[in-house]
Amino acid sequence: MILVTGGAGFIGSNFVLDWLADAATRDEPVVNLDALTYAGNLRNLASLAGDARHTFVHGDITDRGLVDRLLAEHRPRAIVHFAAESHVDRSIHGPGEFIRTNVQGSFTLLEAARAHWAGLPGAERDAFRFLHVSTDEVYGSLAPDAPAFTEDHPYEPNSPYSASKAASDHLVRAWHHTYGLPVLTTNCSNNYGPFHFPEKLIPLMIVNALAGKPLPVYGDGRQIRDWLYVKDHCSGIRAVLARGRVGQTYNIGGWNEQANIDIVHRVCALLDELKPDPAGPYARLITHVSDRPGHDRRYAIDARKIERELGWRPAETFDTGIRKTVQWYLQHGDWVAEVQSGAYREWVARNYAGRA
Ligand code: NAD
Ligand code: TYD
Repeated sequence: MILVTGGAGFIGSNFVLDWLADAATRDEPVVNLDALTYAGNLRNLASLAGDARHTFVHGDITDRGLVDRLLAEHRPRAIVHFAAESHVDRSIHGPGEFIRTNVQGSFTLLEAARAHWAGLPGAERDAFRFLHVSTDEVYGSLAPDAPAFTEDHPYEPNSPYSASKAASDHLVRAWHHTYGLPVLTTNCSNNYGPFHFPEKLIPLMIVNALAGKPLPVYGDGRQIRDWLYVKDHCSGIRAVLARGRVGQTYNIGGWNEQANIDIVHRVCALLDELKPDPAGPYARLITHVSDRPGHDRRYAIDARKIERELGWRPAETFDTGIRKTVQWYLQHGDWVAEVQSGAYREWVARNYAGRA
């Protein structure tokens, strides 16, 4: 039994689905604790309906009493912690929720995990793991010619989101050094793939293009991100959980640096091929809008440690992953329509208003 937090979100739901499908893990049940914020969606887990290996619990990671009860009842041998507020633009508009969930929530989980772990009998205590899922954004922005982030790169978070994730990473580190809690931390680059909420770059461009709406590129569009297909992130987390050294951090990335504008052109070209628009090429919809404040220029992950120590490498190239992703969105118009609720439309109006 493992406890997953945030397992109704983008990466968490892919992780739960893959865990219960992979031959090495499929016999181990999952308890999934998620508050179902705007980003959480039980529809992502619809294929698990009636599956006794998955127990969904609607609740908040800041609720210590609830977390204590779940740990006592289910006695998980590991916690895999995804739950977070995850969108940089939202953190600029409203940082408070990022401090509450990402910092206070991680603290609550660590304290509950510590109490649970301390009470386990010897062999179970030795085997217990707390795996904290984090981001490359904690390292800050790279100069164009600087080497990619290694695990030793200084922490230089620049947005409220990345600062809150950096704070949680530091708490996880301290709970290991001070209390001996057997932790693992992963710092991954930008993910893309099925169930990605269309507030983020790639799904936003797909759904806007299909709706004939402008494709809003911030600033000059030359900002660089290192993109990884979500199922490769999930396999990396499984490798770290199974074989990672306690107390270590592992960077996970796709060796795939791309400028935003090139990503948007790639999405447009795939849509031109798979669902041509009689009105003309989708790239006609690209619109440069004013930049994100404090926008990090470049992220890049050096993923040699996880490859060397754990033998992990991504299975998808960007070509194969982005094609699967665009196809998934074309086949799941009902999912897209459902997540584009009133609250989603309010967010889009708020974030893009005033961006000339
Ligand atoms: P997401 O926003 O899609 O999902 C977050 C999930 O957490 C949602 O299901 C939400 O309901 C849940 N949640 C939020 N607050 C909660 C709370 N207080 N209690 C319980 N549940 C709560 O995020 P994601 O993109 O799937 O990211 C998951 C994790 O991976 C995050 O920790 C994020 O920092 C990290 N990460 C994301 C990326 C990326 O590219 N998306 C890259 C690296 C790391
Ligand atoms: P995003 O998907 O929000 O991820 P992150 O900020 O965590 O990297 O954004 C990816 C990149 O795309 C980032 O450089 C900001 C840019 N971007 C746009 O140019 N336009 C948009 O509408 C969005 C949402 C993002």
